[in-house]
Amino acid sequence: MTRERVAITGSAGYIGSLLCEAFAPHAEVFRLSRAAGYELSRVERIAGWLDELAPEVILHCANYGNLQACAASPEASSVVNVEATRAIAEYARQRQAYLVFLSSDYVFDGERGSYTELDAPEPRNQFGRTKLEAERAIAELCPERALVLRTSGVYGRSASKPCAWDTWAIRRLSAGLSVDAFSEIYNTPTFIGDLVEGIEACVARRVAGVFHLAGPERMSRLEFARELGKWLGAPPELVRAAPQRAHENFFRPRDVSLVNGPILTWVGAPRPLARALPLCGYGP
Ligand SMILES: NC(=O)c1ccc[n+]([C@@H]2O[C@H](COP(=O)([O-])OP(=O)(O)OC[C@H]3O[C@@H](n4cnc5c(N)ncnc54)[C@H](OP(=O)(O)O)[C@@H]3O)[C@@H](O)[C@H]2O)c1
Repeated sequence: MTRERVAITGSAGYIGSLLCEAFAPHAEVFRLSRAAGYELSRVERIAGWLDELAPEVILHCANYGNLQACAASPEASSVVNVEATRAIAEYARQRQAYLVFLSSDYVFDGERGSYTELDAPEPRNQFGRTKLEAERAIAELCPERALVLRTSGVYGRSASKPCAWDTWAIRRLSAGLSVDAFSEIYNTPTFIGDLVEGIEACVARRVAGVFHLAGPERMSRLEFARELGKWLGAPPELVRAAPQRAHENFFRPRDVSLVNGPILTWVGAPRPLARALPLCGYGP
């Protein structure tokens, strides 16, 4: 049997690298990393790269994801997040490839929280605006063959992101050091293992549409850090409430928690934090 050809953008990043690992045993995986020359701001090259590799599936994980950098460089962030996505969607349309686009809880304004797919997105920062524009480009070009998956606060150890916030917090708490965490910023922390398994299940069934796939609990960063501390057996006073930073150059939405809906038809229910923590691979 021939192996499916799967191209993964952002393949050196957190989610992309773990998707490479998950798909490699059964698919022919093409890692479209910047280190390998796939610089997506060279939008005019994207069609040629894809035509040459001829993937049947594209897992589009690359993004200009730093919120501060997006605010400081709106044009550059738009090229990578919107224009490159449009070029990838155009390939999917022309070659009947299946596309998975990782979108974000930041497409919502954060005023209310617990957003479903029926809620109208209204991004309040440049990053969120580019993610929504990318979603709309996909909806215009290849809606019947694309999965737009909005996720939120992904956690779990990964070699590609040794400095991720959760790993950093675990290290500090294990060393008896304090962790300051926002008390008024909420999302739905999502275990990386659930996200990767969910994407595999959706690819196998070619699920198309815009769906949420996030953890089952709405939590502040402070509550999340407290759970990490409890799991480690760290003294509770090490986790301290921090107010939202006043000096940030971008708007940080207050509550972008997501609710899973129809996606649960095709994927297993994401684990709550307490069940996921032992699987996270947080070492000493
Ligand atoms: N992690 C989360 O909590 C979370 C939550 C919601 C949504 N998402 C979405 O999930 C996707 C993957 O996120 P992640 O956490 O894996 O991000 P990540 O670790 O920051 O990885 C992003 C990847 O994008 C690549 N990239 C950035 N600019 C590029 C460019 N100009 N050309 C080519 N590649 C470029 C980076 O390449 P280099 O390695 O060369 O820098 C990096 O490998 C993103 O679309 C993100 O919006 C993530």
